Amino acid sequence: MVQQTLKSPNDLLHFQLRTAMTMENDSLAALGELQKAAKTAEIKQLFRHHADETKEQIANLQQVFRLLEFKESTAPSPSTKGISKQAASLIERSAPKLRDQVALSCALGNEHYEISAYQSLIVPTSSMGMSDVVSLLQANLDQEVHTSEELQKTLQKILA
Ligand SMILES: [Fe+2]
Repeated sequence: MVQQTLKSPNDLLHFQLRTAMTMENDSLAALGELQKAAKTAEIKQLFRHHADETKEQIANLQQVFRLLEFKESTAPSPSTKGISKQAASLIERSAPKLRDQVALSCALGNEHYEISAYQSLIVPTSSMGMSDVVSLLQANLDQEVHTSEELQKTLQKILA
């Protein structure tokens, strides 16, 4: 497979945005799996709620593609595929009583990756002065940060 060389900051931004789209699609699938793995209704609900937010985040990314006049498509995201694979393996080897803890920990890893992805998109679009794009990306980042805090709080609660 011939790889296209990213030559300009704009090429890089487009590629990172395509990767972010795959990341969110992977997140949506992962949240479904984590919801199945979790035992407690409250934790299942936390995953369900963030899955709904993830659908909004995908819509925000579609809007970002339009505003930047980029063709909407996806690019490989081996990092999120790896996070999901690691989660599946940890769930499989854990006793049922550990599943809530495992699911929360795995989701936390995914959120932190997403936070870094949005920060990496916000810095260049902000320096380009694309305030409408930054607002959409910041909305997604805020949800990821909020979710990571909720996951951490819930993890602390179940282990107290
Ligand atoms: Fe997300």
